[in-house]
Amino acid sequence: MEKKNIDWSNLGFGYVQTEQRFVANFKNGQWDAGGLTTNATIEMNECACVLQYAQTCFEGLKAYTTADGHIVCFRPDLNAARMAESCRRMRMPVFPEDKFVEAVVETVRANAAYVPPYGSGATLYIRPFMFGIDPIIGVKPANEYQFRIFTTPVGPYFKGGVKPLTLRISDLDRAAPKGTGHIKAGLNYAMSLYNIVDAHEQGYDENVYVDSATRTHIEETGGANIIFITKDGKLVTPKSDTILPSITRRSLLQVAKDYLNLEVEERPVALSEIGEFAECGLCGTAAVISPVGKIVDHGKEIRYAGMGPVIQKLYDTLRGIQMGTVPAPAGWIQVIE
Ligand code: PLP
Ligand code: COI
Repeated sequence: MEKKNIDWSNLGFGYVQTEQRFVANFKNGQWDAGGLTTNATIEMNECACVLQYAQTCFEGLKAYTTADGHIVCFRPDLNAARMAESCRRMRMPVFPEDKFVEAVVETVRANAAYVPPYGSGATLYIRPFMFGIDPIIGVKPANEYQFRIFTTPVGPYFKGGVKPLTLRISDLDRAAPKGTGHIKAGLNYAMSLYNIVDAHEQGYDENVYVDSATRTHIEETGGANIIFITKDGKLVTPKSDTILPSITRRSLLQVAKDYLNLEVEERPVALSEIGEFAECGLCGTAAVISPVGKIVDHGKEIRYAGMGPVIQKLYDTLRGIQMGTVPAPAGWIQVIE
């Protein structure tokens, strides 16, 4: 199969329309079989529940070309499970988890010409999402839903590639105790839009959210979880019910323990202790592991090593697993072709 003529190495994190997408519809209490379409446009009623009450959730994962030329994706079963959790919390029908994985495979296979080549630094980002589509005016869930998956080739999420990030401690919140911070609902991202524009205007790459109840503990950023490395090489990551359970973070904890023999701690991380860490990074599907150079807490600057030795090792091992140069734990790699 011939690859598309795209300047893979210079891709940013943007939307490039690819040929095929998957669509399934939920009507009269059941999902239809679903299938691929070339139509990237969605037509819906002006009163669609998603437009009025933001009843939508999504996922994000990537397909990679491995060193030996296969196309694979990373732990899609965990995205299926997390999407099911998001749907339950939003009173949306679950798209069956096995069908979710099959649909991811089918969509990537149909867009194989857009999967960036090995070594280009780019990957194919896969975006499954679901929304309430029938007209709803009283506040209640929709009766009809659409589940879609599109793909788009992407480069690094943060401008400047591996340049260490400058973050700020945010005064605004994205999630509340017992709210929806732990699911991947579009509304969580809507909550962060004012703040990300403001952060960029003030010269920061991202916002670090703190727990909204006490404002004393670190949560995550608008689009990634946070990891810290202590001066003696231990991996510490915040534990909280109001952050997204990142698949990258969960994988990194296992990589740190089983591949790198590091101690790991998943626990509440106080804002008052972040000056004691040696390294800091943001982790997620889009962010991969993006090194942090500085966190600014209301004028107080806390500096980190950027791509320090431990973050580099974590990055190399995870990337190696995804690209097929490091043996993967059983079940982590879904071969597509
Ligand atoms: N936190 C937020 C708010 C995110 O949007 C994401 C991206 O998916 C993550 C964390 C990282 O999660 P994952 O590693 O599963 O991509
Ligand atoms: C992802 O990493 O997949 C996300 O959904 C994060 C988003 C900010 C692009």
